[in-house]
Amino acid sequence: MTESQKSNVVILGIETSCDETSAAVLLNGRDLRSHVISSQITTHQKYGGVVPEIASREHSLHFQPVVQQALDEAKLTFRDLSAIAVTYGPGLVGSLLVGVSGAKAMAYAAGVPLIGINHLEAHIYANFLEHQDLKFPLLALLVSGGHTHLILFEAHGQYKVLGHTRDDAAGEALDKVARTLGLGYPGGPQIQRIAQEGNAEAFNFPRAMLEPGSLDFSFSGMKSAVLNTLNSAHMRGETLSVPDIAASFQQAVVDVLVRKALLAIKETRVKTLLLAGGVAANRLLRETLDQKLAEKGVCLVYPSPIFCTDNGAMIATAGYYHYLKGDFAPWTLNAVPGLGLV
Ligand code: KG4
Ligand code: ZN
Repeated sequence: MTESQKSNVVILGIETSCDETSAAVLLNGRDLRSHVISSQITTHQKYGGVVPEIASREHSLHFQPVVQQALDEAKLTFRDLSAIAVTYGPGLVGSLLVGVSGAKAMAYAAGVPLIGINHLEAHIYANFLEHQDLKFPLLALLVSGGHTHLILFEAHGQYKVLGHTRDDAAGEALDKVARTLGLGYPGGPQIQRIAQEGNAEAFNFPRAMLEPGSLDFSFSGMKSAVLNTLNSAHMRGETLSVPDIAASFQQAVVDVLVRKALLAIKETRVKTLLLAGGVAANRLLRETLDQKLAEKGVCLVYPSPIFCTDNGAMIATAGYYHYLKGDFAPWTLNAVPGLGLV
C-alpha cells in the first residue's frame, strides 16, 4: 500500500450483530464524518429480550436506509470509499448475515475491498476513536451482554485472553436481574438508573472470585443469589426494596470486575486499562476504576457511552487498522456466530 493510499482512508463501518443497525463513515481512523444508529430496543422490549427472527427482519428493513443516511451525512458516495468493514461475528446468525451479505454486495458493486470485523475486537477499538495516542501493551476489560474478558492487547490485532466468564456475562446477569425486578430491557441502564435511589449496602450479595489468582469470572451464582433472596421474601409475604436490590447487585458486579482488573494489572504490570463493551457505559464501574487505578498510577481509558454499546463507528475504527495492514476479506466471507477473539 502506498503512502498516498494510507493518507486519505475512508471506511464505511457496518454493525448488525444483535439489535442495532448502525453505519458510520470514518476518515483516517479519527475523523468521524457520520454515525447512524437505528436501535430495535423498543421492538424487543415487549418480549423482555432480543427475539432473533424479529432482529433479522428489522435489520433487513433498516440496513439500506441507515447506510444511505451515513453516506449522505458524510456527503460521500460509494465511489469515495476506501473499503467497507462489517461485523461477521460473534452475534445472532440471522442478524450477522444481513450485514455481511449487504456489505459484500455494496463492496463488490463499488469495487472496493471488504473487511471482516470481529465484534469483540471492535468494542476494544472503540477506545482508539477518541484516544489516538494509546501505547502498547494495553490491558482491556471487555464487558458486554455476551462476553466478559480480560485481555492483554500486545499490538494491533494481537490478543491474549487472560480470563473470561465461565457462565453468564456481566451484562447478561444485569439484564436477567433487571427482568426479574420488572425493570425492562436492556437491564444494565435500568439497574444503573434505579440504583441511584437505593442503598448499595442493603444486601450483601456474594462476590464470586473463584480460585486464588484466577482472572476468570462467574456471574451466574451472583445472579441466582438475588433471585433466591427475592423468592424467599416472596414466600414470607415480604416486599423488598427494588432500588436497594439493584444498587446492591450493581455494587457486587462492579466489585468483582474491579478486583479482577486490579489483579490483572498487578500480574501484567501494564500501565493502561481500556474499558470496552456495553457495561463499560456503567457510571459506578467507571468511577470506581478511575479512583482505584489513579491510586496505582495506572491510566484508565473508556469510550463515550454511545461508543460503548453496539455501533458502526467502532467497526469503522477497527476496519481502519485492518485496512492499513491490507487485511481484506474474501468474497466468501460468512457469518460466524460463535467467533472468539483469538
Ligand atoms: O456491547 P453491547 O451493546 O452488546 C453486546 O455486544 O453484548 O452490550 C449490551 C449490554 C447489555 O447487557 C446492557 O444491559 C449493558 O450492556 N449495558 C449496561 C449499561 N449500558 C448498557 N450495563 C450497565 N450499565 C450501563 N449503563
Ligand atoms: Zn457488542
